Amino acid sequence: MRTAQAAGPRETPEPTDRPRTRVFVAGAGLMGSGIAAQCALAGYAVTLEDVTPELAEAGQRSLARALDGQLRRGKLSPSDRQAALGRVELTVGLSSASKAAIVVEAAPEKLEVKRAVFRELEARTGPETMLASNTSSLPITSIASSLKDPGRVVGIHFFNPVLQMALVEIVPGHETRAAVVAQADEFARSLGKTVVHSRDTPGFVTTRALAVLLNEAAWMLHDGTATRDDIDAAYKLGFHHPMGPFELADLVGLDTALSILDVLWEGFHDAKYRACPLLRTLVESGKLGRKSGQGFYSYGKGAASPTGDPST
Ligand SMILES: NC(=O)c1ccc[n+]([C@@H]2O[C@H](COP(=O)([O-])OP(=O)(O)OC[C@H]3O[C@@H](n4cnc5c(N)ncnc54)[C@H](O)[C@@H]3O)[C@@H](O)[C@H]2O)c1
Repeated sequence: MRTAQAAGPRETPEPTDRPRTRVFVAGAGLMGSGIAAQCALAGYAVTLEDVTPELAEAGQRSLARALDGQLRRGKLSPSDRQAALGRVELTVGLSSASKAAIVVEAAPEKLEVKRAVFRELEARTGPETMLASNTSSLPITSIASSLKDPGRVVGIHFFNPVLQMALVEIVPGHETRAAVVAQADEFARSLGKTVVHSRDTPGFVTTRALAVLLNEAAWMLHDGTATRDDIDAAYKLGFHHPMGPFELADLVGLDTALSILDVLWEGFHDAKYRACPLLRTLVESGKLGRKSGQGFYSYGKGAASPTGDPST
């Protein structure tokens, strides 16, 4: 039995009609593993890829944990969980993207990395394969600019954690064909997501808003306005946010948050996007949030436990 996701208005449609449509997910990190889980739940055949076997296997473990979370929340039956796991195969490198009708790239938020991935994906896939990027902030036009056919590249921006978040932001690049945008809409809806569209400007709608919110919290911690815990409590209790900005930044990944701010700064040259030095220092010292075990908080076996403010 499948029930609607907590935050989502739609049910994930029954996974019966698309077992032969393969989705290739490039990058098996936080987002790639979640996107792969969502596609498998909706009945797609999924290939989950990373650059080493160890990283691909870590992605599969994270995918299984995401499904287990849904099982615990009563959103998924044990048999649906098993069936979803059975639809996922792992691979290293992009060569087997040739088997896919849909590719979703979830590699790190660096323009040069994504451009290289898309150049190889274009060479490996047929002209009908939709090439989507899960970028949070990079213009789709820039990612696609070095391709022979930039018309088949589109932004499909999922939210974290993918299985629990209802929204998908769809971003056509300057050259994206209308048919590809329609295909992206249909794909997102087939996963039970609600779609919004944004013009192709850095950070689109959601990341532009979120980056300022997280960065301002970091600046307030940096200049001593309040403690980490008081700032998190203020956002949660004052604005009814489900997580404080530091909890959320740790979940997103501080490296990803910093890359996003740098993209916004590059794109707009507006001082409001200047990354707080505290964020940069944390990233440079390897404190990336939950994924490294330490960010604004430290994490022992998955639980957030307060440490001293990183500003001190
Ligand atoms: N973290 C979030 O909350 C969030 C939310 C929405 C969108 N995004 C976007 O999703 C993308 C991925 O972010 P993430 O948080 O999953 O990052 P991540 O660091 O957790 O995962 C990235 C994965 O890509 C792999 N990778 C590196 N180079 C690669 C290559 N050349 N080809 C294929 N894979 C490669 C890495 O090994 C890693 O496993 C970014 O564009 C990010 O902006 C992130």
